[in-house]
Amino acid sequence: MDANQKRVALVTGATGGLGTAMCQKLYEDGFRVVANYRNAEKAEKWKEEQKVLGFEIDMVEGDVCNFESCQKMIAEIKEKIGVIDILVNNAGITRDKPFHKMSKEDWDAVISTNLDSVFNCTRHVIEDMREQSFGRVINISSVNGQRGQYGQANYSAAKAGMHGFTKTLAMEVAQKGVTVNTISPGYIATDMVMAVREDIRQKIIQQIPLGRLGGTEEIAYLVSFLASEKASFITGANYAINGGQHVS
Ligand code: CAA
Repeated sequence: MDANQKRVALVTGATGGLGTAMCQKLYEDGFRVVANYRNAEKAEKWKEEQKVLGFEIDMVEGDVCNFESCQKMIAEIKEKIGVIDILVNNAGITRDKPFHKMSKEDWDAVISTNLDSVFNCTRHVIEDMREQSFGRVINISSVNGQRGQYGQANYSAAKAGMHGFTKTLAMEVAQKGVTVNTISPGYIATDMVMAVREDIRQKIIQQIPLGRLGGTEEIAYLVSFLASEKASFITGANYAINGGQHVS
């Protein structure tokens, strides 16, 4: 690769708290960042905000729940910008409910957005990564994919599924210069966590030995490192970043 040519990084669900921090850090570290979004109105505002802050980030529309939509999105990036070198599977939602109250829609929405999305996006980038003998797939799972969490049968199942995916794909593509890793954030100060009822959230924070929520940038640093050339011997790994809440 030409030394002046920037590596292209696609971040899914980029306009959320974690996604934004990842895009900014990757940009600062010299990557050409492409931010995936689904909500055009939110995306427009987000792009402007990033520009004001000095981050020039390309944006691309795509529904990560939909295989064809991902195919179209990734083809569009390839045509306009280039082959995707780094894929960060970050898009995710919650539909928290005790299992006996969980609807089929709650289950499907979370499995589709948080796990099917990983197949839908990765499947369309992996062949180019193999061909060019370089690639990084970084899956954003959760502490609640490593352990259970009351009210999250759907979310825990999807996030745990990512671990199996990471381990197998890492084995399959290692000889092609492609690495596949998982990051499992704990409770980070994002809208998703702030949506948990205040009294419940306070109880959760009391279970975190470090006594606080994590910062979005504390996840972004590791994303950027795993995306770099320096991380080429790291594959099939899972990194817990949870303030000591779960140690395994
Ligand atoms: N263990 C056992 N029982 C529990 C429990 C727990 N941890 N939490 C609640 N219960 C029990 C309660 O004692 C109560 O029992 P009674 O009915 O006998 O009194 C019953 O379950 C109902 O509890 P809630 O009042 O909490 O029920 P709810 O329906 O109002 O709320 C819920 C359910 C929405 C799932 C709520 O408990 C909740 O928000 N929990 C936290 C879920 C959570 O941590 N989500 C993380 C979101 S952020 C994220 O996912 C990012 C990431 O990766 C970390």
